[in-house]
Amino acid sequence: MKPIKVGLLGLGTVGTGVVRIVEGHREDLLGQTGSSIEIAKILVQDKSKTRSISVPEDKLTESARDVIENPDIQVVIEVMGGIETAKSYILEALERGKHVVTANKDLMALHGPEILAKAAEKGCDVYYEASVAGGIPIIRTLIEGFSSDRITKIMGIVNGTTNYILTKMSQEGAAYEEVLKEAQALGYAEADPTSDVEGLDAARKMAILGTLGFHVNVALADVSVKGISGVSKEDIAYAKRLGYEVKLLGIAERQDDQISVSVQPTMVRASHPLASVNGVFNAVYVYGEAVGETMFYGPGAGEMPTATSVVADLVAVVRNLNLGINGRQVFVPYKEKKLKTDEQIASKYFIRLHVADKAGVLAQITNIFAGEDVSLESVVQQPNATTPHAEIIIITHSASQAAVNRVLAAFGDMEGIVHEIKSVYRVEG
Ligand code: NAP
Ligand code: HSE
Repeated sequence: MKPIKVGLLGLGTVGTGVVRIVEGHREDLLGQTGSSIEIAKILVQDKSKTRSISVPEDKLTESARDVIENPDIQVVIEVMGGIETAKSYILEALERGKHVVTANKDLMALHGPEILAKAAEKGCDVYYEASVAGGIPIIRTLIEGFSSDRITKIMGIVNGTTNYILTKMSQEGAAYEEVLKEAQALGYAEADPTSDVEGLDAARKMAILGTLGFHVNVALADVSVKGISGVSKEDIAYAKRLGYEVKLLGIAERQDDQISVSVQPTMVRASHPLASVNGVFNAVYVYGEAVGETMFYGPGAGEMPTATSVVADLVAVVRNLNLGINGRQVFVPYKEKKLKTDEQIASKYFIRLHVADKAGVLAQITNIFAGEDVSLESVVQQPNATTPHAEIIIITHSASQAAVNRVLAAFGDMEGIVHEIKSVYRVEG
Protein backbone atom coordinates (compact mmCIF):
# COMPACT_ATOMS: atom_id res chain seq x y z
CA MET A 1 0.00 0.00 0.00
CA LYS A 2 1.29 3.47 -0.89
CA PRO A 3 2.15 5.64 2.15
CA ILE A 4 -0.15 8.52 3.07
CA LYS A 5 1.81 11.67 2.30
CA VAL A 6 1.54 14.58 4.69
CA GLY A 7 2.64 18.21 4.32
CA LEU A 8 3.63 20.18 7.40
CA LEU A 9 3.21 23.94 7.53
CA GLY A 10 5.70 24.85 10.27
CA LEU A 11 8.57 23.14 12.05
CA GLY A 12 8.68 25.04 15.32
CA THR A 13 7.81 23.67 18.76
CA VAL A 14 4.74 21.69 17.69
CA GLY A 15 5.93 20.78 14.17
CA THR A 16 9.12 19.30 15.61
CA GLY A 17 7.07 17.15 18.00
CA VAL A 18 4.88 15.99 15.11
CA VAL A 19 7.94 14.83 13.16
CA ARG A 20 9.31 13.07 16.25
CA ILE A 21 6.04 11.18 16.86
CA VAL A 22 5.37 10.28 13.21
CA GLU A 23 8.93 8.94 12.91
CA GLY A 24 9.35 7.51 16.41
CA HIS A 25 5.94 5.77 16.55
CA ARG A 26 6.01 4.53 12.94
CA GLU A 27 5.13 0.89 13.77
CA ASP A 28 2.30 1.84 16.12
CA LEU A 29 0.82 4.34 13.69
CA LEU A 30 0.87 1.63 11.03
CA GLY A 31 -0.85 -0.71 13.47
CA GLN A 32 -3.45 1.93 14.36
CA THR A 33 -4.29 2.95 10.81
CA GLY A 34 -3.15 0.13 8.54
CA SER A 35 -1.19 2.74 6.55
CA SER A 36 2.32 4.02 6.63
CA ILE A 37 2.55 7.78 7.01
CA GLU A 38 5.25 9.88 5.42
CA ILE A 39 5.95 13.55 6.04
CA ALA A 40 6.73 14.56 2.48
CA LYS A 41 7.31 18.33 2.70
CA ILE A 42 7.75 20.85 5.50
CA LEU A 43 7.23 24.59 5.11
CA VAL A 44 9.51 26.84 7.17
CA GLN A 45 10.43 30.51 7.01
CA ASP A 46 14.16 29.94 7.01
CA LYS A 47 15.67 26.68 5.73
CA SER A 48 19.12 27.60 7.05
CA LYS A 49 17.96 27.76 10.68
CA THR A 50 19.55 25.25 13.09
CA ARG A 51 16.91 22.74 14.23
CA SER A 52 16.73 20.29 17.11
CA ILE A 53 15.89 17.40 14.77
CA SER A 54 17.57 16.43 11.55
CA VAL A 55 15.32 16.60 8.52
CA PRO A 56 16.48 15.71 4.99
CA GLU A 57 17.35 18.93 3.17
CA ASP A 58 14.98 18.16 0.26
CA LYS A 59 11.96 17.91 2.59
CA LEU A 60 12.27 21.51 3.77
CA THR A 61 10.83 24.30 1.66
CA GLU A 62 10.28 28.02 1.99
CA SER A 63 7.46 27.93 -0.54
CA ALA A 64 3.95 27.07 0.63
CA ARG A 65 3.17 26.05 -2.99
CA ASP A 66 5.37 22.95 -2.52
CA VAL A 67 2.92 21.74 0.11
CA ILE A 68 -0.45 23.10 -0.94
CA GLU A 69 -0.10 22.40 -4.66
CA ASN A 70 1.71 19.09 -4.24
CA PRO A 71 -0.62 16.49 -5.80
CA ASP A 72 0.89 13.66 -3.71
CA ILE A 73 0.07 15.32 -0.39
CA GLN A 74 -3.31 14.26 0.99
CA VAL A 75 -3.13 15.81 4.45
CA VAL A 76 -1.87 19.26 5.43
CA ILE A 77 -0.93 19.89 9.06
CA GLU A 78 -0.89 23.60 9.91
CA VAL A 79 1.39 24.31 12.88
CA MET A 80 2.82 27.65 11.79
CA GLY A 81 0.45 29.88 13.80
CA GLY A 82 -0.79 33.36 12.91
CA ILE A 83 -4.15 34.07 11.35
CA GLU A 84 -4.41 35.45 7.82
CA THR A 85 -1.63 33.49 6.08
CA ALA A 86 -2.54 30.26 7.85
CA LYS A 87 -6.19 30.77 6.93
CA SER A 88 -5.41 31.31 3.25
CA TYR A 89 -3.17 28.21 3.14
CA ILE A 90 -5.81 26.07 4.85
CA LEU A 91 -8.64 27.28 2.59
CA GLU A 92 -6.47 26.65 -0.47
CA ALA A 93 -5.54 23.18 0.73
CA LEU A 94 -9.22 22.35 1.30
CA GLU A 95 -10.11 23.79 -2.11
CA ARG A 96 -7.64 21.27 -3.57
CA GLY A 97 -9.30 18.42 -1.66
CA LYS A 98 -6.63 18.03 1.02
CA HIS A 99 -7.58 17.19 4.59
CA VAL A 100 -6.42 19.56 7.30
CA VAL A 101 -5.19 19.24 10.86
CA THR A 102 -4.45 22.44 12.77
CA ALA A 103 -3.35 23.42 16.28
CA ASN A 104 -4.32 27.04 15.69
CA LYS A 105 -6.85 28.29 18.27
CA ASP A 106 -6.52 31.90 17.13
CA LEU A 107 -7.60 30.87 13.65
CA MET A 108 -10.33 28.42 14.69
CA ALA A 109 -11.87 30.86 17.18
CA LEU A 110 -12.07 33.59 14.55
CA HIS A 111 -12.62 31.72 11.30
CA GLY A 112 -13.70 28.21 12.39
CA PRO A 113 -17.15 28.39 10.76
CA GLU A 114 -15.72 29.48 7.38
CA ILE A 115 -13.06 26.77 7.45
CA LEU A 116 -15.50 24.06 8.51
CA ALA A 117 -17.99 25.16 5.83
CA LYS A 118 -15.29 24.91 3.15
CA ALA A 119 -14.33 21.46 4.46
CA ALA A 120 -17.96 20.30 4.30
CA GLU A 121 -18.30 21.69 0.76
CA LYS A 122 -15.18 19.83 -0.38
CA GLY A 123 -15.81 16.59 1.54
CA CYS A 124 -12.63 17.10 3.54
CA ASP A 125 -11.73 16.57 7.18
CA VAL A 126 -10.66 19.41 9.47
CA TYR A 127 -9.47 18.40 12.94
CA TYR A 128 -8.16 20.80 15.58
CA GLU A 129 -7.75 18.86 18.83
CA ALA A 130 -4.51 20.62 19.81
CA SER A 131 -6.07 24.07 19.58
CA VAL A 132 -7.53 23.84 23.10
CA ALA A 133 -5.64 22.54 26.13
CA GLY A 134 -2.72 21.05 24.14
CA GLY A 135 -2.40 17.42 25.17
CA ILE A 136 -5.88 17.00 26.73
CA PRO A 137 -8.27 15.36 24.23
CA ILE A 138 -11.12 17.70 25.17
CA ILE A 139 -12.45 18.47 21.68
CA ARG A 140 -12.97 14.82 20.80
CA THR A 141 -14.45 14.31 24.27
CA LEU A 142 -17.03 17.06 23.77
CA ILE A 143 -17.94 15.99 20.22
CA GLU A 144 -18.01 12.24 20.76
CA GLY A 145 -17.88 11.39 24.47
CA PHE A 146 -20.72 13.73 25.42
CA SER A 147 -22.80 13.35 22.25
CA SER A 148 -25.55 11.62 24.26
CA ASP A 149 -25.69 14.25 26.98
CA ARG A 150 -26.68 17.91 27.31
CA ILE A 151 -23.87 19.96 28.73
CA THR A 152 -24.82 22.77 31.07
CA LYS A 153 -21.43 24.05 32.20
CA ILE A 154 -17.83 24.01 31.06
CA MET A 155 -15.17 25.58 33.28
CA GLY A 156 -11.62 25.60 32.06
CA ILE A 157 -8.15 26.49 33.17
CA VAL A 158 -7.06 26.68 29.56
CA ASN A 159 -4.05 28.98 29.73
CA GLY A 160 -0.87 27.58 31.25
CA THR A 161 1.00 30.89 31.46
CA THR A 162 -1.59 32.56 33.68
CA ASN A 163 -2.07 29.44 35.78
CA TYR A 164 1.68 29.34 36.37
CA ILE A 165 1.66 32.99 37.46
CA LEU A 166 -1.35 32.63 39.77
CA THR A 167 0.04 29.42 41.29
CA LYS A 168 3.36 31.13 42.08
CA MET A 169 1.56 34.15 43.53
CA SER A 170 -0.50 31.82 45.72
CA GLN A 171 2.34 29.58 46.84
CA GLU A 172 4.99 32.26 47.38
CA GLY A 173 2.90 35.31 48.24
CA ALA A 174 4.66 37.11 45.38
CA ALA A 175 3.33 40.08 43.38
CA TYR A 176 2.04 39.72 39.81
CA GLU A 177 4.80 41.79 38.14
CA GLU A 178 7.53 39.89 39.94
CA VAL A 179 6.19 36.46 38.92
CA LEU A 180 5.54 37.57 35.34
CA LYS A 181 9.19 38.63 34.96
CA GLU A 182 10.34 35.30 36.38
CA ALA A 183 7.98 33.39 34.04
CA GLN A 184 9.39 35.33 31.06
CA ALA A 185 12.97 34.56 32.12
CA LEU A 186 12.10 30.84 32.34
CA GLY A 187 10.40 30.91 28.93
CA TYR A 188 6.93 30.09 30.35
CA ALA A 189 5.57 33.51 29.42
CA GLU A 190 6.21 35.20 26.08
CA ALA A 191 8.14 38.47 25.72
CA ASP A 192 4.79 40.07 24.86
CA PRO A 193 2.48 38.27 27.30
CA THR A 194 -0.61 40.41 26.55
CA SER A 195 -2.68 37.73 24.83
CA ASP A 196 -2.15 35.32 27.73
CA VAL A 197 -2.36 37.64 30.75
CA GLU A 198 -5.26 39.71 29.43
CA GLY A 199 -7.31 36.55 28.83
CA LEU A 200 -7.54 36.65 25.02
CA ASP A 201 -5.87 33.26 24.53
CA ALA A 202 -8.28 31.68 27.03
CA ALA A 203 -11.24 33.50 25.43
CA ARG A 204 -10.38 32.01 22.03
CA LYS A 205 -10.23 28.54 23.54
CA MET A 206 -13.53 29.07 25.39
CA ALA A 207 -15.23 30.21 22.16
CA ILE A 208 -14.21 26.87 20.66
CA LEU A 209 -15.32 24.85 23.72
CA GLY A 210 -18.61 26.76 24.01
CA THR A 211 -19.37 26.10 20.35
CA LEU A 212 -18.70 22.37 20.74
CA GLY A 213 -20.44 22.02 24.10
CA PHE A 214 -23.61 23.93 23.30
CA HIS A 215 -23.89 23.35 19.51
CA VAL A 216 -24.11 27.07 18.76
CA ASN A 217 -21.60 29.27 16.97
CA VAL A 218 -19.90 31.11 19.84
CA ALA A 219 -17.97 34.04 18.36
CA LEU A 220 -15.00 35.59 20.12
CA ALA A 221 -17.07 38.78 20.54
CA ASP A 222 -19.60 36.78 22.58
CA VAL A 223 -16.99 36.03 25.26
CA SER A 224 -16.61 38.62 28.00
CA VAL A 225 -12.96 38.81 28.95
CA LYS A 226 -10.94 40.00 31.93
CA GLY A 227 -7.31 39.01 32.46
CA ILE A 228 -5.11 38.60 35.52
CA SER A 229 -3.02 41.78 35.37
CA GLY A 230 -5.21 43.37 38.07
CA VAL A 231 -4.94 40.45 40.51
CA SER A 232 -3.06 41.60 43.59
CA LYS A 233 -1.18 39.52 46.13
CA GLU A 234 -3.60 40.89 48.74
CA ASP A 235 -6.55 39.40 46.85
CA ILE A 236 -4.80 36.05 46.70
CA ALA A 237 -4.01 36.19 50.41
CA TYR A 238 -7.67 36.99 51.23
CA ALA A 239 -8.82 34.19 48.94
CA LYS A 240 -6.61 31.69 50.75
CA ARG A 241 -7.72 32.93 54.15
CA LEU A 242 -11.35 32.41 53.16
CA GLY A 243 -10.69 28.96 51.65
CA TYR A 244 -10.37 29.84 47.95
CA GLU A 245 -7.73 29.90 45.20
CA VAL A 246 -7.75 32.54 42.46
CA LYS A 247 -7.76 30.95 38.98
CA LEU A 248 -8.24 32.41 35.51
CA LEU A 249 -11.40 30.48 34.63
CA GLY A 250 -13.14 30.24 31.31
CA ILE A 251 -16.81 29.65 32.13
CA ALA A 252 -19.39 28.59 29.55
CA GLU A 253 -22.87 28.08 30.92
CA ARG A 254 -26.22 27.08 29.47
CA GLN A 255 -29.65 27.36 30.99
CA ASP A 256 -32.47 26.10 28.78
CA ASP A 257 -31.47 27.53 25.39
CA GLN A 258 -29.53 30.55 26.65
CA ILE A 259 -25.79 30.63 27.07
CA SER A 260 -23.01 32.83 28.40
CA VAL A 261 -19.26 32.51 27.95
CA SER A 262 -16.68 34.45 29.93
CA VAL A 263 -13.07 34.47 31.07
CA GLN A 264 -12.11 36.11 34.36
CA PRO A 265 -10.01 35.64 37.47
CA THR A 266 -12.30 33.67 39.75
CA MET A 267 -12.19 32.60 43.36
CA VAL A 268 -12.51 28.83 43.32
CA ARG A 269 -13.30 27.05 46.58
CA ALA A 270 -10.24 25.07 47.67
CA SER A 271 -12.23 21.81 47.72
CA HIS A 272 -13.18 22.14 44.03
CA PRO A 273 -10.99 19.97 41.75
CA LEU A 274 -10.05 23.01 39.65
CA ALA A 275 -8.47 24.71 42.69
CA SER A 276 -5.64 22.17 42.80
CA VAL A 277 -4.69 22.49 39.13
CA ASN A 278 -1.33 24.16 39.48
CA GLY A 279 1.56 25.48 37.41
CA VAL A 280 1.37 25.28 33.63
CA PHE A 281 -1.19 22.46 33.72
CA ASN A 282 -4.64 22.85 32.19
CA ALA A 283 -7.95 21.29 33.19
CA VAL A 284 -11.45 21.37 31.81
CA TYR A 285 -14.44 20.63 34.04
CA VAL A 286 -17.59 19.61 32.20
CA TYR A 287 -21.03 19.24 33.77
CA GLY A 288 -23.63 17.29 31.83
CA GLU A 289 -27.29 16.88 32.74
CA ALA A 290 -26.99 13.10 32.67
CA VAL A 291 -23.34 12.43 33.51
CA GLY A 292 -22.93 15.06 36.25
CA GLU A 293 -19.41 16.26 37.05
CA THR A 294 -16.36 15.29 35.00
CA MET A 295 -12.88 16.78 34.75
CA PHE A 296 -10.03 16.40 32.26
CA TYR A 297 -6.50 17.32 33.31
CA GLY A 298 -3.12 17.45 31.62
CA PRO A 299 -0.45 19.48 29.89
CA GLY A 300 -1.93 22.38 27.96
CA ALA A 301 1.10 23.10 25.82
CA GLY A 302 4.62 21.97 24.96
CA GLU A 303 6.22 20.12 22.08
CA MET A 304 5.28 16.51 22.73
CA PRO A 305 1.89 16.92 24.48
CA THR A 306 0.61 19.22 21.74
CA ALA A 307 2.05 17.02 19.00
CA THR A 308 0.27 14.03 20.56
CA SER A 309 -3.06 15.70 19.84
CA VAL A 310 -2.01 16.76 16.34
CA VAL A 311 -0.90 13.25 15.39
CA ALA A 312 -4.07 11.75 16.92
CA ASP A 313 -5.98 13.98 14.49
CA LEU A 314 -3.76 12.74 11.68
CA VAL A 315 -4.60 9.16 12.67
CA ALA A 316 -8.31 10.05 12.48
CA VAL A 317 -7.86 11.48 8.96
CA VAL A 318 -5.92 8.40 7.80
CA ARG A 319 -8.56 6.04 9.22
CA ASN A 320 -11.24 8.06 7.42
CA LEU A 321 -9.21 7.87 4.20
CA ASN A 322 -9.04 4.10 4.49
CA LEU A 323 -12.79 3.88 5.11
CA GLY A 324 -13.60 6.49 2.46
CA ILE A 325 -15.56 8.61 4.93
CA ASN A 326 -13.63 11.89 5.02
CA GLY A 327 -15.70 15.01 5.49
CA ARG A 328 -18.59 13.14 7.10
CA GLN A 329 -17.75 14.20 10.64
CA VAL A 330 -17.35 17.95 10.25
CA PHE A 331 -18.89 19.56 13.35
CA VAL A 332 -21.78 21.84 12.42
CA PRO A 333 -23.60 23.74 15.21
CA TYR A 334 -27.33 23.08 14.85
CA LYS A 335 -28.79 25.40 17.49
CA GLU A 336 -29.65 29.07 17.34
CA LYS A 337 -27.44 31.23 19.54
CA LYS A 338 -29.22 33.04 22.38
CA LEU A 339 -26.92 34.92 24.72
CA LYS A 340 -27.87 35.56 28.33
CA THR A 341 -28.18 39.18 29.39
CA ASP A 342 -26.35 40.48 32.48
CA GLU A 343 -29.68 40.15 34.33
CA GLN A 344 -29.67 36.42 33.56
CA ILE A 345 -26.04 35.66 34.43
CA ALA A 346 -25.94 34.64 38.07
CA SER A 347 -23.02 33.93 40.35
CA LYS A 348 -21.64 34.50 43.81
CA TYR A 349 -19.24 37.43 44.10
CA PHE A 350 -16.34 38.44 46.34
CA ILE A 351 -16.11 42.21 46.83
CA ARG A 352 -13.34 44.00 48.76
CA LEU A 353 -13.98 47.61 49.75
CA HIS A 354 -12.12 50.35 51.56
CA VAL A 355 -14.71 52.37 53.44
CA ALA A 356 -14.85 55.15 56.03
CA ASP A 357 -14.19 53.78 59.52
CA LYS A 358 -17.18 55.35 61.29
CA ALA A 359 -20.55 54.45 62.75
CA GLY A 360 -23.33 53.48 60.35
CA VAL A 361 -21.13 52.79 57.32
CA LEU A 362 -21.67 49.04 57.31
CA ALA A 363 -25.44 49.57 57.47
CA GLN A 364 -25.31 51.92 54.46
CA ILE A 365 -23.26 49.39 52.50
CA THR A 366 -25.55 46.47 53.26
CA ASN A 367 -28.60 48.62 52.43
CA ILE A 368 -27.27 49.10 48.90
CA PHE A 369 -27.09 45.34 48.47
CA ALA A 370 -30.58 44.93 49.93
CA GLY A 371 -31.93 47.58 47.55
CA GLU A 372 -30.77 45.47 44.60
CA ASP A 373 -32.05 42.25 46.20
CA VAL A 374 -28.50 40.90 46.52
CA SER A 375 -28.30 38.63 49.52
CA LEU A 376 -25.02 38.39 51.43
CA GLU A 377 -23.35 35.15 52.51
CA SER A 378 -20.69 36.79 54.65
CA VAL A 379 -19.45 40.24 55.60
CA VAL A 380 -16.11 40.56 57.38
CA GLN A 381 -14.20 43.63 58.48
CA GLN A 382 -10.49 42.83 58.28
CA PRO A 383 -7.82 44.74 60.14
CA ASN A 384 -5.39 46.07 57.54
CA ALA A 385 -2.39 48.13 58.66
CA THR A 386 -1.78 49.44 55.14
CA THR A 387 -4.98 51.51 55.00
CA PRO A 388 -6.39 54.21 57.31
CA HIS A 389 -9.86 53.08 56.14
CA ALA A 390 -11.85 50.06 57.21
CA GLU A 391 -11.48 47.10 54.89
CA ILE A 392 -14.63 45.10 54.26
CA ILE A 393 -14.80 41.73 52.51
CA ILE A 394 -18.21 40.68 51.25
CA ILE A 395 -19.23 37.40 49.69
CA THR A 396 -22.69 37.45 48.13
CA HIS A 397 -25.10 34.61 47.57
CA SER A 398 -25.84 33.95 43.92
CA ALA A 399 -26.88 37.25 42.36
CA SER A 400 -27.36 38.60 38.87
CA GLN A 401 -24.35 40.28 37.29
CA ALA A 402 -26.52 43.28 36.44
CA ALA A 403 -27.59 43.73 40.08
CA VAL A 404 -23.99 43.48 41.28
CA ASN A 405 -22.95 46.03 38.65
CA ARG A 406 -25.66 48.41 39.93
CA VAL A 407 -24.39 47.92 43.50
CA LEU A 408 -20.84 48.73 42.38
CA ALA A 409 -22.04 51.80 40.51
CA ALA A 410 -23.84 52.98 43.64
CA PHE A 411 -20.64 52.54 45.68
CA GLY A 412 -18.88 54.74 43.12
CA ASP A 413 -21.29 57.56 44.06
CA MET A 414 -20.82 57.21 47.85
CA GLU A 415 -18.06 59.77 48.28
CA GLY A 416 -16.73 59.90 51.84
CA ILE A 417 -18.25 56.50 52.59
CA VAL A 418 -16.77 54.10 50.00
CA HIS A 419 -13.19 55.21 49.35
CA GLU A 420 -12.30 52.47 46.89
CA ILE A 421 -13.64 49.27 45.37
CA LYS A 422 -10.42 47.28 45.70
CA SER A 423 -11.53 44.15 43.89
CA VAL A 424 -14.45 42.12 42.60
CA TYR A 425 -14.24 38.42 41.74
CA ARG A 426 -16.73 35.84 40.63
CA VAL A 427 -16.86 32.92 43.09
CA GLU A 428 -17.21 29.26 42.04
CA GLY A 429 -17.35 25.90 43.74
P1 NAP B 1 6.62 28.21 16.51
O1 NAP B 1 7.53 27.46 17.40
O2 NAP B 1 6.75 29.69 16.42
O3 NAP B 1 6.81 27.61 15.04
C1 NAP B 1 6.24 28.17 13.89
C2 NAP B 1 6.81 27.47 12.67
O4 NAP B 1 6.14 27.92 11.52
C3 NAP B 1 8.31 27.71 12.44
O5 NAP B 1 8.90 26.54 11.95
C4 NAP B 1 8.32 28.81 11.37
O6 NAP B 1 9.44 28.70 10.50
C5 NAP B 1 7.06 28.48 10.59
N1 NAP B 1 6.40 29.66 10.04
C6 NAP B 1 5.77 30.64 10.72
N2 NAP B 1 5.25 31.55 9.87
C7 NAP B 1 5.57 31.13 8.64
C8 NAP B 1 5.34 31.64 7.34
N3 NAP B 1 4.65 32.77 7.13
N4 NAP B 1 5.82 30.95 6.28
C9 NAP B 1 6.51 29.82 6.46
N5 NAP B 1 6.76 29.27 7.66
C10 NAP B 1 6.30 29.92 8.74
O7 NAP B 1 5.10 27.90 16.85
P2 NAP B 1 4.53 26.70 17.74
O8 NAP B 1 4.72 27.01 19.18
O9 NAP B 1 5.01 25.41 17.21
O10 NAP B 1 2.95 26.86 17.49
C11 NAP B 1 2.36 26.47 16.27
C12 NAP B 1 0.85 26.51 16.40
O11 NAP B 1 0.43 25.61 17.41
C13 NAP B 1 0.27 27.87 16.80
O12 NAP B 1 -0.96 28.05 16.15
C14 NAP B 1 0.05 27.73 18.30
O13 NAP B 1 -0.97 28.56 18.78
C15 NAP B 1 -0.36 26.29 18.37
N6 NAP B 1 -0.13 25.68 19.68
C16 NAP B 1 1.10 25.72 20.21
C17 NAP B 1 1.33 25.13 21.44
C18 NAP B 1 2.70 25.12 22.04
O14 NAP B 1 2.88 24.52 23.11
N7 NAP B 1 3.71 25.69 21.43
C19 NAP B 1 0.27 24.51 22.14
C20 NAP B 1 -1.00 24.48 21.53
C21 NAP B 1 -1.19 25.07 20.30
P3 NAP B 1 10.97 28.86 11.03
O15 NAP B 1 11.21 27.66 11.89
O16 NAP B 1 11.81 28.86 9.81
O17 NAP B 1 10.99 30.15 11.80
N1 HSE C 1 0.14 30.52 25.56
C1 HSE C 1 -0.62 29.31 25.75
C2 HSE C 1 -0.67 29.00 27.25
C3 HSE C 1 0.01 28.15 24.97
O1 HSE C 1 0.00 29.64 28.06
O2 HSE C 1 -1.43 28.11 27.63
C4 HSE C 1 -0.94 27.04 24.69
O3 HSE C 1 -2.00 27.43 23.88
